[in-house]
Amino acid sequence: MNQWLDERLHISRLNDKFLRKAFPVHHSFFLGEITLFSLIILILTGILLALAYEPSNSLVTNSFDPGTSDKPNLIPAAYHSALKINAMPFGDMLRRIHHWTANIMVAAAVIHMMRIYFTGAFKKPREINWWIGMLLLIFTALTAVTGYVLPYDNYAYQTLKVIYGIAASVPWVGEWVAQAAFAGKFPGAGVIPRIYGYHIMLLPGILLALTGAHMLLMIKQKHTQPQYAKRIAYKKIVGVPLSTQQTPIMLLLAIMFAAIIVLFSAFIPVHPIEHYGPPSTTPINNIKPDWYLLWVFGALAIIPSFEVHLFGGLIGAEFVGAIVVPTLFLLAMFAVPMLDRSKDNMYYAENPTNHPVRLAAGVAFMAAMIVMSVAGYKPELISAGILNTANANTILWILLFLIPAVCYFGVLGIVRGIRTLREADQRERGAFSPADD
Ligand code: HEM
Repeated sequence: MNQWLDERLHISRLNDKFLRKAFPVHHSFFLGEITLFSLIILILTGILLALAYEPSNSLVTNSFDPGTSDKPNLIPAAYHSALKINAMPFGDMLRRIHHWTANIMVAAAVIHMMRIYFTGAFKKPREINWWIGMLLLIFTALTAVTGYVLPYDNYAYQTLKVIYGIAASVPWVGEWVAQAAFAGKFPGAGVIPRIYGYHIMLLPGILLALTGAHMLLMIKQKHTQPQYAKRIAYKKIVGVPLSTQQTPIMLLLAIMFAAIIVLFSAFIPVHPIEHYGPPSTTPINNIKPDWYLLWVFGALAIIPSFEVHLFGGLIGAEFVGAIVVPTLFLLAMFAVPMLDRSKDNMYYAENPTNHPVRLAAGVAFMAAMIVMSVAGYKPELISAGILNTANANTILWILLFLIPAVCYFGVLGIVRGIRTLREADQRERGAFSPADD
């Protein structure tokens, strides 16, 4: 059989090129794989959900509570179909698995990215893969947000209204961009079919293409190696080949991961659409995006409201908070391979403490993100009496600079202090050699 296939498809060449690829044996290298498994679970559960979901915001009679013939109870078809999925055997479970996996995919991508950052795996020659990774992160978040809107309950509707407002806040072209993106003035008749198209075709297509490029580049450039590989065989690739050793390890990990997601979904319900009901004019107090976008919400919360009219366009707080600030943060992340000027990293995952400035900058950046996310809870902090309306913004702004600065200098001080002590100790014992990566 093998020979039959080989004569036609030259499988053995494929085997030499890809299946012999050596995978480092180290737990931190599974983070990218967990992100990949999440994408696969999302596609599989998404296909099943799409079989029952109705992508339309036209009104239909609520079959669970039809009302009277004079006054039928009309609700959007999308919301109605989400209620129907909940009522199907395992339907609710399917929605939960899809929802939790989306959250886990974003979290796994962020932690995977932290591993890449703190070990210097983004440095030459892997800068392109860092940039592709950044795009993967952005498109993963966009896919999750569009999915969030699809059940079209009142919460999703009010969130969509905020998103439309943000798109429309771009000076000069905003209204045009918002209408083009959301199929007319909000809430246009075609808004749900449009978002559905993004969520099940455009965005997963982009994610799959980017993931393919990410994997091919990783195979071409080879993984960075864990530090222990240096001791075993200096500058040689150490690891287990994809076929046959790495594949069963990955399968086992995938099965364990899927089992954990199922357990998680069995016990933790998702956003209760019945509780919020169909879209209505009743606003919901303090709606929040999912955790990974809270920092954008925080930026919106602390920028004081202002308006500048320039050449017929309006620049306001909404545009600065939700578009300019996040763009600056993302640009800083894109620029990481250009900002780190330390020597190239062809082979080994670096020890983070041997690069104190990079380590401190990363911790400070994460601290800034966390402070901004907490700022997203400004109304709750005020109503709990922790902040008061008059000084909430000033305090949050001070914290936004103070906490990252303390983190930066704190990490730098601790790491440099430990290093000096370690070197002094080694010198005393006559065994000093500058710490390598
Ligand atoms: C969101 C979807 C993503 C998927 C499915 C994914 C998947 C993977 C996988 C399976 C690996 C090999 C295993 C490993 O090193 O952990 C990898 C490596 C890598 N990823 Fe990602 N990744 C994603 C996002 C990101 C992000 C957000 C970044 C950074 C901005 C990034 C940058 C890299 C780099 C530079 C490597 C090579 C690492 C090395 O050689 O040590 N990836 N990715």
